[in-house]
This record gives sequence, structure tokens and C-alpha cells, in this order.
Amino acid sequence: MVILSVPEVLSKKRQGGELMDDEIEYFVECVCNKEIDRSQIGAMLMAFCLRGLSRKETVTLTKAMMNSGTVQQWDPSWKMVDKHSTGGVGDKVTFPLVAAVPLFGLKMPMVAGRGLGHTGGTADKLEAIPGFKISLTEEHMMRTLRDVGCYITTQFGNIAPADQTLYSIRDVTSTVCYAPLVCSSIMSKKLAEGIGSLVLDVKSGVASTTESHEQAEWLARMMVDIGHGMGVNTTAVLTEMHTPIGYTIGNSLEIIESLECMKGNGPADLNKIVAVQGGMLLYDGGIAETLEQGEEMILKTFRNGTALDKFLEILGNQGVEKETLELLRTGKYEEVFAKPTYIQRIFAHQSGYIEKVDAMALGTATVLLGGGRQLAGDKIDFAVGIKLLRTKGDKVENGDILAEVHHNGQLTTMLQTRIKEAFLIGENDAPIRRVLSIVKPNAPTVDYEVYRSQH
Ligand code: URA
Repeated sequence: MVILSVPEVLSKKRQGGELMDDEIEYFVECVCNKEIDRSQIGAMLMAFCLRGLSRKETVTLTKAMMNSGTVQQWDPSWKMVDKHSTGGVGDKVTFPLVAAVPLFGLKMPMVAGRGLGHTGGTADKLEAIPGFKISLTEEHMMRTLRDVGCYITTQFGNIAPADQTLYSIRDVTSTVCYAPLVCSSIMSKKLAEGIGSLVLDVKSGVASTTESHEQAEWLARMMVDIGHGMGVNTTAVLTEMHTPIGYTIGNSLEIIESLECMKGNGPADLNKIVAVQGGMLLYDGGIAETLEQGEEMILKTFRNGTALDKFLEILGNQGVEKETLELLRTGKYEEVFAKPTYIQRIFAHQSGYIEKVDAMALGTATVLLGGGRQLAGDKIDFAVGIKLLRTKGDKVENGDILAEVHHNGQLTTMLQTRIKEAFLIGENDAPIRRVLSIVKPNAPTVDYEVYRSQH
């Protein structure tokens, strides 16, 4: 067919039509060539969300976005791997993971995202560390992979440039939480990294981009199939995202908690997610004989200090000064990170068990405190965030401190109420179950515990 114009493609999708391959490719081309107004991109994204993208349209969109730039190529003897999360609240899994995995000879050319909607971004969190440079030259990347084993950068130059534009417009048009858009965004840039294995952390729950378990599984299966179809050994780990991960939300606070995890002091849920995803990369890469063994190998790097050394090496390689690294190593965090002007405590209003800690409410509150962006281009306040002193399943007495809100004057009464109401206290002791199931190509989804016992 002959494509006449962007409004014509827009109109077809608005009316619920299934787009042909060349119509999707034309849209992506226009996004890259800037031959389209941002309002038209926003309208198209909203039409995708409201009218839906079929499986076929999603695959075409993903490939068109990947092909909008270059696919990286590496020394064929290197075992290239990566990890990506669909986004959550308090999700700091990447940091301990990138510290542990390269210790086993695997190389991670990580392209990380910025905050998106209520979810924080790996790149923003790293920029909370003074001196850290997220942009690298291609020559520096190559050298880093050879000598250090891992870098973390944002999408640069020609890596899935279509996603760079779409991502920033999704963030401010309420079109983040639509599974086919999440799939095309993640897989286009991960496939462009030139990796051999990929582990995907697909979140399921109120604060994830896919709220229901069915949607999360659909997304996981779609991404695993696309990855597999493109020759990448892809596994998805489905994890729960009703409750924030660990005890911190906010850029500096999350980096500090990650460093503590690498020192062997991490919260149990964070340790577990990192161990399963890292263990899966070791298992898929033939380094561990079982997933369980891979998990133990990852956790050992936290106990013996090698993960911390590797993370500090990664930071040093990306611009962080020696003195700062030493302060991070010795835990003198207050001398490194920007401090908030105020710390407001939130108290329990009754005794009982914490039945729920609403990650969506706390993620949104952190954005409103300045820890995320409300408009594209907003400057992030690294110092703000929420530190939980109690979490789901904990027993509390009336008057106990539930959380501390770190802020710089943005904590309105309404926001304070929202944070307080994020904690539901009742009579039921309801522990968090974080790792739910594992999705591999050409195999049924397997409940995590069953999967473990099979190996
Ligand atoms: N991470 C991404 O890179 N894209 C999304 O859409 C969601 C999470």
C-alpha cells in the first residue's frame, strides 16, 4: 500500500485498525527523522494504548525500533550478557547484579533507562553519585568491557534512537504502562547491545508497568519469544511489585542500600531477586550447573567483598574520584550524597501487622517530592525519598515509626497523608513473596519453587 501521511496512519489506529508492517516502519522512521510533531507521536502512543497493538504489530514495532540504529558488535570470544527490568519502585537490583556477574568472566554492556512515570531509573540513581559520568565514548566502552567487564550508560547516539524519543514522550503522556510498548522499548535496545544472553525482570503488581499476573506473563512471554527469535538466550523472571523492594525509594537512598547489599548487609528480598537473576545468567552461561548454585555464587561475592570492589571499579572507570570511592567503601555516605533539608517521620496509628505497603503510592509520592520527573527535562532532586523502617509482614505497635520522608520542602499535608495511607495495618501477617515464576522459550511458565527443585 502507499502511505500518504502520518495523520492517515494515526487515523487508522484511532479507529482500531491493525497497522501493516510498512505503516509501523514509516511511523518509526518519521520519529527518527523528526518528520513528525511531538503531539502526533503522543497521539499515536495513546492510540496504541487505547486501541491495542497485536502480537504481530508488537514484533514489527520492536524490530523497527531496534533497526532505527546500529547493533553493537564485540570480540566473538566475549560472553556478552545483560539484565533489564520492566520497572518498579525501590528497584535497585541492577547495582549489586552488575557488581557480581562480571566477576565470573561475563561482560555486561548495560544500556540503562531514566525514570519513567512512578518508577525510578538506573541512570538517574547513578547520577546521584558525585562525579559519575553516564555517557561514554565508544572507545571507552570497548576498553571497559575488556578491562573491567561492565559499563552502564544511557542510550547513546545510535542505539535504538527511536526508543529514546518514544520513551521521553511516554513518560509525560501517561502511556508508560502498556505491555506492547514496554516490550518494544526494552527489547529494541537490549537486542541492539549485541548480547548472547539476557535476563528480564518482569514485575507484576500495582506498581509495575503490568498490574495483573496475566499481563506480566504475556509481556514476559512476548519478550522471551522475540529475544529467542533473534538468537539471544532470553529468560524472564516474574517478580512481585506491590511492595517496594528493600527499604528505600529515591535516588541517593537506593544507591546507599545497594552498597550495603554488596557489603553483605542487604535486605532479604533484594538479595533474593539479585541472586536469582544473577544466578540465571551464570546458569544460562554454563558457569553454574544449577540455578541454585548460581544463586549461591552471587551471594558469596557479597559476603567476601569482591562485588563491592567490582562496583567501585565500575564507578571509578566512569569518573568517580578515588576519595569518593573510599568514602563509599567505608560507609561515610553523608560525606558523599546531597542531604535533604528535612526528615519527617511517619508514625503507625494502630498496632498490628503491616498487611500492605503501597509501592504505587510511595513511588508517586517520591516523584512529587522531586525524586522523579513530572515533565520531560525536569531536574531530579537526588536527596529526596522515602526510607521505610518497617515493611510488609512486620508487626508494629501504635506510635512506631513506619518511615522517614527525606525532602526539601515539597512535603505537603496531602502528600504526607498519601504516604501514611500507603501503609495498611491489620491483623494478618502477610509476608512478601518476591520471585514468582520463570519464563523460558519453548517451555511452560514454571513456578519458581518448582523450578528450583527440578534442578
Ligand atoms: N524500561 C524500559 O526500558 N522501557 C520501558 O518501557 C519500561 C522499562
